[in-house]
Amino acid sequence: MSETGLTSGDFTEVAEPFRLFAAWLEDATKSEINDANGVALATVDAEGMPDVRMVLLKGFDESGFVFYTNFESAKGREILGNMKAAMCFHWKSLRRQVRVRGPVEIVTEAEADAYYATRPRGSRIGAWASKQSRPLESRFALEKAVAEYTARYPIGEIPRPKYWSGFRIVPQTIEFWHDRPFRLHDRIVFSRNTQGGWDKTRLYP
Ligand SMILES: Cc1cc2nc3c(=O)[nH]c(=O)nc-3n(C[C@H](O)[C@H](O)[C@H](O)COP(=O)(O)O)c2cc1C
Repeated sequence: MSETGLTSGDFTEVAEPFRLFAAWLEDATKSEINDANGVALATVDAEGMPDVRMVLLKGFDESGFVFYTNFESAKGREILGNMKAAMCFHWKSLRRQVRVRGPVEIVTEAEADAYYATRPRGSRIGAWASKQSRPLESRFALEKAVAEYTARYPIGEIPRPKYWSGFRIVPQTIEFWHDRPFRLHDRIVFSRNTQGGWDKTRLYP
């Protein structure tokens, strides 16, 4: 029984997805060995070739699911090219999966600044030092860049690089999956309707 009362048996009864997502993430935070907020992020490049990698979910509410990254990285360029993405959480300890798909928005400057300010100093320096997804000549070149930015920002504020910010997937669909015996799993998909509410459909496993 989860503390929220949203048990694996009755999750299909809920009417909207966010309370359920919050409950499952909270359960995962207690049962996963690390990074319960780790999520596979899928994007598509300009040729239509899919791409996927892990990111950390850093916020969610009814407006969407937020993560932060370098906008000049492969994922950054892919998202900026079509402003669409998908996410897939898999919590092995709970045998649960959640899938999110939708258009993408860029978080506000204020939101990105607020999150950046919570990051450890080393991570803020790292955001400056890493030309994420571009070829790196050697580990030494990265360490040199870290040393240079550490010297540039020895104390006080470290500004947020303009290429480093957050994306928000605004879900059009959110699907919840829970393992059941004999692969007869429960699947419920919530789809945003034209009134801004959610339609709920049960799917064959
Ligand atoms: C558990 C986990 C969490 C990660 N979180 C992030 C993240 O929040 N943001 C990010 O830019 N990269 C994150 N990464 C690194 C990405 O998976 C990826 O290597 C990097 O962002 C470059 O991806 P790209 O070349 O497709 O843009 C994470 C990796 C792992 C394994």
